[in-house]
Amino acid sequence: MRVAPERWFWAVQKHFFGKTTPMNSCVVGLQWGDEGKGKVVDILAENSDIIVRYGGGANAGHTVVVGDEKFALHILPSGSVRPGKTCVIANAVVVDPEVLINEIETLGRKGIRLDGRLLVSENAHVVLDYHKQEDRLREESLGKNKIGTTIRGIGPCYADKVGRSYAVRVGDLRDLQGLKAMIQNIVGYKNRLFGALYGAEPISAEDIFNKCIGYAEAMAPFIADTTEFLHDSIANGKSILFEGAQGSLLDIDHGTFPFVTSSNSSPLGMPSGSGVPAKMVQKFIGVAKAYSTRVGGGPFPTEQDNEIGQYIRDRGNEYGTTTGRPRRCGWFDAAAVSYSVAIGAIDSISLMHLDTLSGLKELRVCRGYKIDGKETTFFPANATRLAKAEPVYETLGCWDEEITGVRDFNDLPVNAKDYVCRLEELTKTPITMVGVGPERTEIIER
Ligand code: GDP
Ligand code: IMO
Ligand code: MG
Repeated sequence: MRVAPERWFWAVQKHFFGKTTPMNSCVVGLQWGDEGKGKVVDILAENSDIIVRYGGGANAGHTVVVGDEKFALHILPSGSVRPGKTCVIANAVVVDPEVLINEIETLGRKGIRLDGRLLVSENAHVVLDYHKQEDRLREESLGKNKIGTTIRGIGPCYADKVGRSYAVRVGDLRDLQGLKAMIQNIVGYKNRLFGALYGAEPISAEDIFNKCIGYAEAMAPFIADTTEFLHDSIANGKSILFEGAQGSLLDIDHGTFPFVTSSNSSPLGMPSGSGVPAKMVQKFIGVAKAYSTRVGGGPFPTEQDNEIGQYIRDRGNEYGTTTGRPRRCGWFDAAAVSYSVAIGAIDSISLMHLDTLSGLKELRVCRGYKIDGKETTFFPANATRLAKAEPVYETLGCWDEEITGVRDFNDLPVNAKDYVCRLEELTKTPITMVGVGPERTEIIER
């Protein structure tokens, strides 16, 4: 049986120092999302008691492949597919009840039940139809300046949360009379706003409230104070795995604004999103692909809008899990990943999709940029400066062999091993897992 490295760590701690504290860890994306977080969380969930989504909403699409079965999870933590694990949707997640209920039912049809092991924070905000409508209307009105959002209502819901006066939280579903008045007030306001700004047809408060009656019934068993639950669980020696959504470069404060999502999707969002301080988490695990991808607008210095990008897209099946959009593909950007490592105090990297690079006739890695004639290795998290960045590349050796069957790092082609080792040097971070295929077992642990 595979024993996770962190279990060894705590076994050694216990032996020498008498410490028995279980390991809490956090998995986050180091690029622009879709790095393979779902797969890494699924693997690590085997040795965790509780898996927590702490930010984002149904804009996320996390894929878990178990044998022939493929799960695409948008709002449920990826640990949901492992029976017996407790799953938490914490305060800073924006919850689309329709997506949540649909996911619970879909898993239920496959024999995976969430009853008694899912907790949804009463303080999480609720995404309703008018958020999705606003997301769409705003993107359409922006024309070529659009952000390229997932149209899942994420930005508008977070805006309502920050604005406070027109927000609905999960706990509000417990009081339908109060909710009815809230919805009438909010929808009246939204209709005036959307009518004036976009000439939109009014939406019906009654329709939205009627849907909420169904949401309230389906979600009632899961609504909880998740902060209390998480602190009790830590006190009782449970181990917690925090599952980041999106990627660090899409962070609202530290990403490539305005081409970002509306939450702190870097590890900096984990404590505020869950109510568990970062010092209670022993290990931050960053997930990166062996190349780069991005969906939606925004600067992408190493983008290969050519046959190389197409080769990666075809082999890596780089089409959005949530929207089906083709992902933009390019070379690995060590400056970008090193920036995410720095802001997240990342302990180790899980490098996914090494198999996708087999057969390329050229292999490059960006180690820094030239901006206004000056070389830098520090990633400018600013869309205007990043748009001016010319990548400085290193060319590395290629390999033709298919590597999906490899499980021991030493059995990889020498150039594939050298590629991984060079990325470790450039990012100054150990690469402890290497993905060689989408399936749960297609992983090399180092
Ligand atoms: P997430 O949002 O970070 O969870 O990533 P997504 O699920 O959106 O996208 C990652 C895609 O890559 C999914 O289709 C995974 O099944 C797939 N995947 C993950 N790891 C690997 C790998 O090592 N090799 C290959 N070929 N596919 C992988
Ligand atoms: P996971 O968790 C990749 C991108 C969108 C868009 C920008 C803003 O699967 O890695 P939003 O709908 O959040 O307002 O869109 O952020 N984006 C993602 N890209 N993976 C994701 O999630 C994403 N979530 C949002 O494409 O560019
Ligand atoms: Mg994804």
